[in-house]
Amino acid sequence: MLAMRPIDMARDWEMLVSFHRDLFEISFGSTQEFSAERYRSLLADRLARWPEGQRLAIAGDEVAGQVELLMRAYEGRTVGFISVLYLTPPYRGRGLGEELLRYAYHVFLRYGVDECHLHVTERNARALSFYERHGFARIAPPETERGSWRMALCLAASEQ
Ligand SMILES: CC(C)(COP(=O)(O)OP(=O)(O)OC[C@H]1O[C@@H](n2cnc3c(N)ncnc32)[C@H](O)[C@@H]1OP(=O)(O)O)[C@@H](O)C(=O)NCCC(=O)NCCS
Repeated sequence: MLAMRPIDMARDWEMLVSFHRDLFEISFGSTQEFSAERYRSLLADRLARWPEGQRLAIAGDEVAGQVELLMRAYEGRTVGFISVLYLTPPYRGRGLGEELLRYAYHVFLRYGVDECHLHVTERNARALSFYERHGFARIAPPETERGSWRMALCLAASEQ
């Protein structure tokens, strides 16, 4: 069972940057294009705009993962976008990703948004099958070799 707590950049930054580097490795097979500076400024901006969308997941007294949520325009409407869904290695493969998804659904619905989107790379087969198992459909294929599938789930039609 995970608890969600706010992000404190001063305290959490070193950990967050290591999570993000790992996400690059998992998603692209390399950290060559990872820039800590770029991520720092993106995250600071997201925290300033929508702190509730940015959370650490806590298991007992350990940080087990992270969620970053955004609101984005898509084909003339606003959709909830999961920018980061991340569990540290010891917490993967135990069904906890579903708790992170549920947090995201809960926040999006509370803000009046009933459609959830995200991007996943082809090489991240575990994440692709995880999202499909949770009802997401692939709605747009990668446009480049390093690109990502766009996946979507209608929260109103699902059983969330
Ligand atoms: C993707 C993720 C959020 C899924 O959450 P989860 O709680 O691990 O999900 P599940 O327990 O349902 O397992 C997901 C899959 O990983 C497999 N798995 C098992 N042990 C694992 C481990 N130690 N590490 C990674 N995956 C593992 C599961 O068997 C399952 O595969 P399947 O769908 O083929 O059955 C989580 O694994 C994660 O944070 N991964 C790393 C970051 C990432 O890829 N995020 C998504 C970016 S778009």
